[in-house]
Amino acid sequence: MNTASANETYNYKVVRQFAIMTVVWGVVGMAVGVLIAAQLVWPELNTHYPWFHFGRLRPLHTNAVIFAFGGCALFATSYYVVQRTSQARLFSDGLAAFTFWGWQAVIVAAAITLPLGYTTSKEYAELEWPIDILITLVWVSYALVFFGTIAKRKMKHIYVANWFFGAFILTVAVLHIGNSMAIPVSAMKSYSVYAGAIDAMVQWWYGHNAVGFFLTAGFLGMMYYFVPKQAERPVYSYRLSIVHFWALISIYVWAGAHHLHYSALPDWAQSAGMVMSLILLAPSWGGMINGMMTLSGAWHKLRTDPVLRFLVVSLSFYGMSTFEGPMMSIKTVNALSHNTDWTIGHVHSGALGWVAMISIGALYHLIPRLYGLKSMYSTNLVNVHFWLATIGTVLYIAAMWVNGIMQGLMWRAVNADGTLQYTFVQALKASYPGYTVRVLGGAVFLTGMLIMAYNVYRTVRQRDAVADDAAAVPQTA
Ligand code: HEM
Ligand code: HEM
Repeated sequence: MNTASANETYNYKVVRQFAIMTVVWGVVGMAVGVLIAAQLVWPELNTHYPWFHFGRLRPLHTNAVIFAFGGCALFATSYYVVQRTSQARLFSDGLAAFTFWGWQAVIVAAAITLPLGYTTSKEYAELEWPIDILITLVWVSYALVFFGTIAKRKMKHIYVANWFFGAFILTVAVLHIGNSMAIPVSAMKSYSVYAGAIDAMVQWWYGHNAVGFFLTAGFLGMMYYFVPKQAERPVYSYRLSIVHFWALISIYVWAGAHHLHYSALPDWAQSAGMVMSLILLAPSWGGMINGMMTLSGAWHKLRTDPVLRFLVVSLSFYGMSTFEGPMMSIKTVNALSHNTDWTIGHVHSGALGWVAMISIGALYHLIPRLYGLKSMYSTNLVNVHFWLATIGTVLYIAAMWVNGIMQGLMWRAVNADGTLQYTFVQALKASYPGYTVRVLGGAVFLTGMLIMAYNVYRTVRQRDAVADDAAAVPQTA
């Protein structure tokens, strides 16, 4: 690959590395997603090897899509945006390279240890203590590179996207260190320092804010840079973006208790979590509207620009999942939705519709620029990808909504004498059609990712061809 690095004004090498790995891990993580979805339809796919059982592959899926795919997308875009908007090269090339290789090492370690059965059993924080220490080292280096670049910026102003990226980096550091506090008892086993209801509360303070800061704030940083860039319009309201920032980060951190409704957590804490979740609708929609309205006067571009379509549709899914979340946090609604596939539908309307779609849109904007090209190898393939991603997401989440509400209703249905009307197995059998549709939706989404991988490969090859041609021309003039 012919790519200048040390003599570029900005450090694009690390951005390119993270951008390419986003696509690679996206394909891997979603392929595992399709596999575990298929295991729920055809249990024989679990095989008799424990490494391929659903229980071990599920955390592999969540870690791969959130931290490998989502994480690499966040590293790539934050490093790009902070350099462009600060007009300064990254604070340290060496530390930036360490964050790339360190993060890939974390991912590979996760891919090996999770199937082997090593787990703390804390959701989204399953990795054992030696890997947690490596994550901490990488993350502190990330913070140094990011904030170091802000410190040496040539602009007085700090663009709002950097505020969101900055909040994401700082909060994830606090969450990871706080929730992972554990006492090691052997090389690959540790016990949490927290116990009982306190452990549950700390875990869901972490879990919910992983959603709020890893899966939301960082991606909002992406939105504030790439939507205006792709639409070639300024942000609709800069003032709203600042209000959006402070309101979002100050409310998110209080809402985690909605994951523990009707549990041993004190009732007042559950209710406080519910109220804060309802309030969270306002900043979430404020941000979504700010992103959407940025298209004022540029809506016609949606007809011809599939990259912009990815970005705008991702905002619609963001709006949908942040309306649904507060509704699900209402205790009486949660009594129906909790533990059902409704939660899984909500998760993936955020994960596929929002997180994956905005990342894909941002990458389609970014990749040609990183390689000195005007556009991707094929805009038609971007368009095909857009439709596959949209149809795949809708199939997935619609199937899970139907399943979820049906399961909730079947579990609570009672006969006149108070006995249960349906056995658990009856509800499970009724869920099979939905599970099959999900496999289909997932496979459609994955096909789009494979097309993206091909398009990216051809784009990078195109860059190499341009560079080779340039090298072949004698430098006479
Ligand atoms: C091809 C696309 C995908 C497929 C087929 C898929 C499939 C699945 C399946 C079958 C589960 C387990 C559900 C269960 O236990 O009942 C799951 C869980 C999960 N997936 Fe995906 N997934 C995909 C993409 C993604 C992406 C892109 C993300 C995040 C960015 C994501 C995040 C999650 C999370 C957080 C969970 C755990 C949900 C919970 O515990 O409530 N998935 N996925
Ligand atoms: C205003 C915003 C949001 C609120 C108030 C909210 C609220 C909720 C609620 C009430 C649950 C169900 C908890 C349970 O019954 O166990 C839930 C689950 C979940 N939500 Fe959201 N949500 C919001 C936005 C999002 C977004 C944008 C995403 C993804 C990008 C997301 C990802 C998840 C995940 C991964 C879970 C499953 C956690 C687990 O049990 O493993 N949420 N959310």
